[in-house]
Amino acid sequence: MDFLDAMRNEVRRLNDFHASGRVIALHGTTVEIHGLERFLSMGDLCALESPNREQPLSCEVVGQNLDSTLVMPFGELNGIGVGDRVTASFHEAVIYPTEHWLGRVVGARGEARDRRGALPIGDEAYAIRAQPPAAHLRRALGEKILLGVRALDAFAPCCRGQRMGIFSGSGVGKSLLLSMIARRSQAEVIVVGLIGERSREVKEFLERALGEEGLRRSVIVIATAEEPALARRQAAWTTMAVAEFFRNAGCEVLCLLDSLTRFAMALREIHLAAGEPVTMRGYTPSVFAELPRLLERAGTGIEQSEDAETSQNHSQNHLQNHTQDNVMGNITGVFSVLVEGDDPNEPVSDALRGILDGHVTLSREIAHRNRYPAIDILQTVSRALPNANSDEDNALLADARALIARYQEMEDMIQLGAYRKGSDAQVDRAIAVVPRLEKDFLAQGLDDPPLEFHELSALLSNILQGQESASKTHKPTAKETAKSSEDNRQVDSAGKEDAAVEPSLESTQGASQKTSQEISQETSQESSQETWVG
Ligand SMILES: Nc1ncnc2c1ncn2[C@@H]1O[C@H](COP(=O)(O)OP(=O)(O)OP(=O)(O)O)[C@@H](O)[C@H]1O
Ligand SMILES: [Mg+2]
Repeated sequence: MDFLDAMRNEVRRLNDFHASGRVIALHGTTVEIHGLERFLSMGDLCALESPNREQPLSCEVVGQNLDSTLVMPFGELNGIGVGDRVTASFHEAVIYPTEHWLGRVVGARGEARDRRGALPIGDEAYAIRAQPPAAHLRRALGEKILLGVRALDAFAPCCRGQRMGIFSGSGVGKSLLLSMIARRSQAEVIVVGLIGERSREVKEFLERALGEEGLRRSVIVIATAEEPALARRQAAWTTMAVAEFFRNAGCEVLCLLDSLTRFAMALREIHLAAGEPVTMRGYTPSVFAELPRLLERAGTGIEQSEDAETSQNHSQNHLQNHTQDNVMGNITGVFSVLVEGDDPNEPVSDALRGILDGHVTLSREIAHRNRYPAIDILQTVSRALPNANSDEDNALLADARALIARYQEMEDMIQLGAYRKGSDAQVDRAIAVVPRLEKDFLAQGLDDPPLEFHELSALLSNILQGQESASKTHKPTAKETAKSSEDNRQVDSAGKEDAAVEPSLESTQGASQKTSQEISQETSQESSQETWVG
């Protein structure tokens, strides 16, 4: 966008005239005003002025009838009374992001929330409630992006432009999993929205999870739990607007939102205050209409710049007229979802599972066993599969899933000692493989480094073949184990006996194990001089 375009946009945003009304009633979290019915419509902004307040209080229209308008404030209603003056402003909420926002903490309305002074102002206004790119112009999902969490990268890989949800009840590890992703992922730019979180969690996320280095490539948008519902809702929109800015600049953006449920709860609060009827669990119908509107803004970008212009002509929002020469990036989204009451069928989780392109389920039972991240592999789905993987990798995953499923079916009998070894080859193999899969693959410390995709496949293949990886005295790092696997594969491909296969497996090699060994041989990599002895 050149200077003249920017000026044009700004002039368009100026008020043509001023109009004012008066407060006629206060109802809990909403204010009823009279005199602006002809000028304001849903979603417009206005300002409440009171002799008791130093600053006007910004509000948004949430309802209207013939002779009054219902507005909700972006702050505390302290000091506001009947008769106070209200002025209308006739522009939509916008922010002016720039690349200098990287490393900064931003509030719901694009204001600085760290101690580093005012935020730099970009050239272009971004509407916080923009339209997504036109569906038919968006490109297909890109290649896999490394999120840095082994269980996810292997079992639910995420592609560029994909939108994944992390689902669990309270306190099972959603936020810590998101913080692992923020720190470990390969993304160029990360935009994090912390919506309705406790202040303590925000501080921990910034200082412990991201750290200096992570913060340098991130913009953090926050609206904590005590902020008004409008601010919490707006923080989610602002997060998307910042992500859209970086996407339009051609960056591969990772957008993390913690949590979508708190966004839905903020919507519920606003809609209920405006008198909307209630459906399931107190949620109003508009909540379920708003969720896809937010989530569709994440996803793949538009391939060609001509297409980009065409799509923006389709957009109703003139402020979104981003002419650009470079190719748009993608917004890959990972959003946490609180499953209320651990009920997977509660309405928000149910709706979101349908909207997102994949869901990661965290299990309380796994967390109780102290295996973190507590990802339940069998309840986790990435809709990028099977296309995102090679046939060999898909066969490895199918083998691992089948073994985990068999182990779970038989777990009680195994624990009770009621299962007799040798009765079922698949169960014998599951007993040999699954505990190690849990310990050496699915469990990952917050500071454990990520593995590349080929290293993950090698490690998984190694574990599925039951190859020993650890001596009694040395617990290898995941990297070492993956390395060992690659070396073992070289041994395999040289046609030698696999000495590391557990004895218990010798008599129980089922068809699926053969498959993984064959796969391992087929996919064996170039030889390396280093060796690691299990
Ligand atoms: N990867 C992990 N390693 C060790 N402990 C973990 C891990 N993930 C979660 N925990 C434990 O679980 C607790 C809750 O984690 P977290 O705050 O991430 O859960 P949550 O699902 O985001 O909770 P809420 O629903 O309240 O937001 C942590 O305080 C920690 O004790
Ligand atoms: Mg949390």
